[in-house]
Amino acid sequence: MVLYEGKAKKILRTDNENEFIVYYKDDATAFNGEKKAEISSKGILNNKISTKIFENLERQGIKTHYIKNISEREMLVKKVDILLLEVIVRNITAGSFCKRVGIEEGIVLDEPIFELCYKNDEYGDPLINEDHAVAMGLATRKEIEYIKNETLKINEVMKKFFLDMNLKLVDFKLEFGKDKDGNILLADEISPDTCRLWDKDTNEKLDKDRFRRDLGDLLAGYEEVLSRMSN
Ligand code: TMP
Ligand code: ASP
Repeated sequence: MVLYEGKAKKILRTDNENEFIVYYKDDATAFNGEKKAEISSKGILNNKISTKIFENLERQGIKTHYIKNISEREMLVKKVDILLLEVIVRNITAGSFCKRVGIEEGIVLDEPIFELCYKNDEYGDPLINEDHAVAMGLATRKEIEYIKNETLKINEVMKKFFLDMNLKLVDFKLEFGKDKDGNILLADEISPDTCRLWDKDTNEKLDKDRFRRDLGDLLAGYEEVLSRMSN
């Protein structure tokens, strides 16, 4: 039974009340749903890529909702209540950061930037700070501190993972959830929909910016990312 349907995924109930299924759809959206397309087999690629990233993070001791991959488009995950926060990390300038402050794309940052957005489509997922998040009851001060620490660890693990594949991790978005015991786990998906990935030598964009900015075949980029993971 479908519990929730989002823009790129569905969450399904299972017989076990502590486990959900994440089903990866072929839909691509950008600019808060203003630009839409169905890209055949994107869901299959994102499920495979997300699986490899979660497995790597788990191997490095990061607590995630991931349990196992169960089909071409589905992964089994631990049930969590998703916090209404989108956590963004930037290692290289791009995207909304460049637009907001007028800085050029592609500048390597001395330290990663940690950003929070309020996960709310109606308001366009606005950028907020930690005080806003606490005041709005999205998480406690302690939880945000924990999330920031985890996020910076995750960034180090993921940067190395992608660099070994000759890819630069430019920026990415994470979501966290709380399990039944109150533990905060990394949740949602991690894929070229949610990460900017550039070839280390050519800076070719292999992520969703191909769709957002009409830079070429989206699937070819995602297939390239997956093939480098399989080597
Ligand atoms: P941004 O530059 O548009 O703020 O995006 C930063 C990173 O977060 C980029 O890798 C794409 C990802 N992202 C999502 O996964 N979902 C979103 O809704 C947004 C706005 C960004
Ligand atoms: N995820 C989209 C983007 O990154 C925004 C949306 O979900 O519509 O542009």
